[in-house]
Amino acid sequence: MPGIVIVGAQWGDEGKGKITDLLAEQADAVVRFQGGNNAGHTIVRNGETWKLHLMPSGILYPGKLCVIGNGVVIDPKVLTDELDELRRRGVDTSGLKISANAHMIMPYHLMLDDAGEAKLGKLKIGTTRRGIGPCYADKASRIGIRVQDLLDEKILKQKIVAALEPKRLALRPFARDPRLDLQAITEEYLAYGRRLSEHIQDTTRLVWDKLDAGASVIFEGAQGALLDLDHGTYPFVTSSNPIAASACIGSGVGPKDIDEVWGITKAYGTRVGSGPFPTELDGELGEELRQRGGEFGTTTGRSRRVGWLDLVALRYAARINSLTALVVTKLDVLTGLETVKVCTRYRGEDGAEFDHFPYHQSVLHHTVGEYVELPGWSEEIGEARSVDELPQNARDYLAFVEQFIGVPVVMVGVGPGREQTVWTDAGRATVPGRASAAQAA
Ligand code: IMP
Repeated sequence: MPGIVIVGAQWGDEGKGKITDLLAEQADAVVRFQGGNNAGHTIVRNGETWKLHLMPSGILYPGKLCVIGNGVVIDPKVLTDELDELRRRGVDTSGLKISANAHMIMPYHLMLDDAGEAKLGKLKIGTTRRGIGPCYADKASRIGIRVQDLLDEKILKQKIVAALEPKRLALRPFARDPRLDLQAITEEYLAYGRRLSEHIQDTTRLVWDKLDAGASVIFEGAQGALLDLDHGTYPFVTSSNPIAASACIGSGVGPKDIDEVWGITKAYGTRVGSGPFPTELDGELGEELRQRGGEFGTTTGRSRRVGWLDLVALRYAARINSLTALVVTKLDVLTGLETVKVCTRYRGEDGAEFDHFPYHQSVLHHTVGEYVELPGWSEEIGEARSVDELPQNARDYLAFVEQFIGVPVVMVGVGPGREQTVWTDAGRATVPGRASAAQAA
């Protein structure tokens, strides 16, 4: 059975958690491979809401193998709080395994994230201030602290000293901050090590074993393609690679272990933080969609920028991820609009037209979307469970997207609940067992 990668095909917040949760029920393992607690997954199950930041979405299934892979950056305070909360609510967390090679977010990473944004002023990235960028920077500079370091006091202390040394200047404003005390950090992180030790493993081998036994493994991405460090709207991106190729690097499997790549997109667009967003809606309509879609960050509570569906960007995301399937979420949010627009081309300042995502930052910053206007629908669709139960105009909307991108739509979200999902024929053909199980749920 295959390795399936689930990735965001926009700027994050596409509803990957719900889709992973649905597929995870039948899968044997769920693996997170990049990002950290800058991500936020909301899962609604049996009327209960779960907000997860670091935990793989499969954690709600008792004993399921849930891996935090080597490519993830871990804030141990957040992870241990999340573990405590899950246990308090009666969830069996024994399936959680944490890669000994994953990097730790340290107190100074949080300070540097804040300081970096303050310094950039108007040019700030709008990060989640969770220390993600500085942590990945230390990893690349080879002065990062890894999970395995928490298990050895001497090594941990040495490595913290080495990591702090080149940051002296940048950290000067925090010189008296008790969070920078070497002994205090060491003790705090050793305590995390003791707390997490039962979960720490060579997770690469665990995932190999599953794949070699023919089990199904879901690789759960965080953020989205356009926030990719290499292929996104740099510098307004995150510091990891949220695209499918990263599933291999961030978990230790090879490209041949990946059989399918599912891209998740909302039926419209959102973006948090700064950076270009050619289809952004500033006015009343944007506000209406924001309210209807509950477009406020799971992680930071920030309100999200909202816009029409950008098919130029989505086609780009489909290509860089080799998408084999598309999932369109939150289609219900568009209900009631007289017409629905989709962006099929960009127009630059000088009138130049772009059918493809422009590589040049200055060009992209000044493009606006050109649209095809499709008829809307007024019927509520939250109760639909098959494509036939969707209004014709909603079906036409999906067909337009599918045709433009050239990737089949396998599933459509029609509301926040896990049962509020419509599998298409293509979806049933792709994963027959899962589709029927999810439909019955
Ligand atoms: P960082 O990942 O905290 O460094 O933030 C860099 C950029 O990525 C900012 O624009 C954030 O708003 C954005 N970002 C990071 N994580 C997410 C996410 O899970 N959803 C949406 N945007 C995100």
